[in-house]
Amino acid sequence: MCGIVGYIGSQDAYSILIEGLKKLEYRGYDSAGVALVNGSRLEVIKAKGELEQLENKVGAKFPNGSTGIGHTRWATHGAPSDVNAHPHCCCSGDFAVVHNGIIENYRFIREWMEEAGHKFQSETDTEVLAHLIKHFYNGDLLGSVQQALAQVEGSFALVAVARGKNDQMVCARKDSPLIIGLGKNENFVASDVPAILQYTRRIYILEDGEAARVTKDVVEVFSPEGKGVSKEVFHIDWDAVQAEKGGHPHFMIKEIMEQPHALRETMRGRLLEEGRKIDLSELNLTDEEIASTRRVFIVACGTSYHAGLVGKYAMERALRLPVEVDLASEFRYRDPLLDESSLVIVISQSGETADTLAALRLVRGKGVRVLAITNVVGSSVAREADKVLYTWAGPEIAVASTKAYITQLLALYLITLHMGRVRGAMDASALEEGGRAIFRLPEKVENVLGRERELKRFSAYLSRWENAFFIGRNMDFAVALEGALKLKEISYIHAEAYASGELKHGTLALIVEGIPVVALVTQKALQDKSLSNIKEVKARGGYVFCLAQEGMQGLEEELDEVFYLPATLDFLLPVISVVPLQLISYQAAVERGCPVDKPRNLAKSVTVE
Ligand code: M6R
Repeated sequence: MCGIVGYIGSQDAYSILIEGLKKLEYRGYDSAGVALVNGSRLEVIKAKGELEQLENKVGAKFPNGSTGIGHTRWATHGAPSDVNAHPHCCCSGDFAVVHNGIIENYRFIREWMEEAGHKFQSETDTEVLAHLIKHFYNGDLLGSVQQALAQVEGSFALVAVARGKNDQMVCARKDSPLIIGLGKNENFVASDVPAILQYTRRIYILEDGEAARVTKDVVEVFSPEGKGVSKEVFHIDWDAVQAEKGGHPHFMIKEIMEQPHALRETMRGRLLEEGRKIDLSELNLTDEEIASTRRVFIVACGTSYHAGLVGKYAMERALRLPVEVDLASEFRYRDPLLDESSLVIVISQSGETADTLAALRLVRGKGVRVLAITNVVGSSVAREADKVLYTWAGPEIAVASTKAYITQLLALYLITLHMGRVRGAMDASALEEGGRAIFRLPEKVENVLGRERELKRFSAYLSRWENAFFIGRNMDFAVALEGALKLKEISYIHAEAYASGELKHGTLALIVEGIPVVALVTQKALQDKSLSNIKEVKARGGYVFCLAQEGMQGLEEELDEVFYLPATLDFLLPVISVVPLQLISYQAAVERGCPVDKPRNLAKSVTVE
């Protein structure tokens, strides 16, 4: 969603805010702005468009001040424009606020404020906060922010500054992430770690309902009841370089290339003796809890949901245990049939996705166990779940998720093996065979990455079309869904994924001469069935690019292009087959001149419902 940065110290705040916002642009990039406090001046500059537009507007004459706030926006209320960009001010210009989240009762507050004589400038929900702060202000910025927030329904992470108050900024959160970076004679506020990594690795994570007064030397945190809270300092292990492009033209390709490393990191300490032994004791799930599980629910959004679909096939096959996979936004409103024998697994790269978090809370509210798979240490999902299994993919910056997906698959396979052993559903040889094959996945992914050029011809062909199809059966269908999403979000080519057997029930009508069809045929048991469906497509003129497993030779005689994937156990193929799909999406998007890391209308973390 939106990105927030705040700085207070002795340095020039503007440059620090801009650098921080650059690291947060993945959270939103339709407009940006800063507010600097400089004695009796509160200077606000905002511009529609990416951060560059703001920098162009400011030019060489940077606003002065060592206290300031900045924002990069992903529009919810009010179209992207200069006036709707944050920071927002009250009518007297005494207070400026940056905000991430949604103020649900903003219409009511706006009417109330207008009746009290306040004049509004923007169409945003956020602006009511600035007017409320002004309304309650009696010399204490923290107090007026707390009073303002008491009127508000919805979600927020916000930072406020006041004209004439160089010595402090005030921040607060509810259902939207916010951290405070602890420096020496300077402090920072941000919605995510990359914004402050180059200055400090020591942070406080604000909890829901907490507010803080931040000066250059002191950070005071208060509970919702207004009591002082003593916070634990959290150390960030990420290296600042990990959050940079490292010579690649885009974060997405850098992150695709990092996948073998991400897999190795995620299996480190968990898959031992080259895969012969698995240790997931970190989960703290007792054997009794695992043995008594009667149904598994996997809940997530977007790419993480697609990882969950693969997990369903793997778990049901190996554990003979029913697994339901739900989109978090649907799950939370469908009154799921949960009981104490249910295990709910939520998957979220960011650990901050609003719907996933709400689903987690709903489940815990019913007294049911939640296991989280997440990539961000200290994220809301990680803190609120009963058990956490981290994916160690490192920071994922590109909006299109790649290395997070592949490590989520790995986490699900590890859980499957672990549960398979405890439940006695997998015998020693099946466990060893599975573990050893998982251990070798990074080198197989490396093999595909090394053959990137072989995909360019098809990517160029694909880039000239406005529609494409992805087909597959079982796990291949789950991966096809992810392939179609990758292509849509970054290249803007309309792509649909279908279960191969389902095409003839309607979709074949859309197959026209030359239309690109990506067919996944990686599951040996389903090879013949899948090929029959592909022939139905070929017979109607489709151009078929097929992903097959090594050992299924000879397909190229019947199909237009075939890319053979290194062989492994069928149920592990998704880790390998998704890689060429990521690459063709990336290559096609580059070919079409799309802004790969920042696709239109999207944001990396969706922290609103
Ligand atoms: O952080 P999360 O895993 O909870 O995010 C869920 C989705 O928003 C995310 O996977 C999204 O679909 C990706 N941008 C797709 O590449």
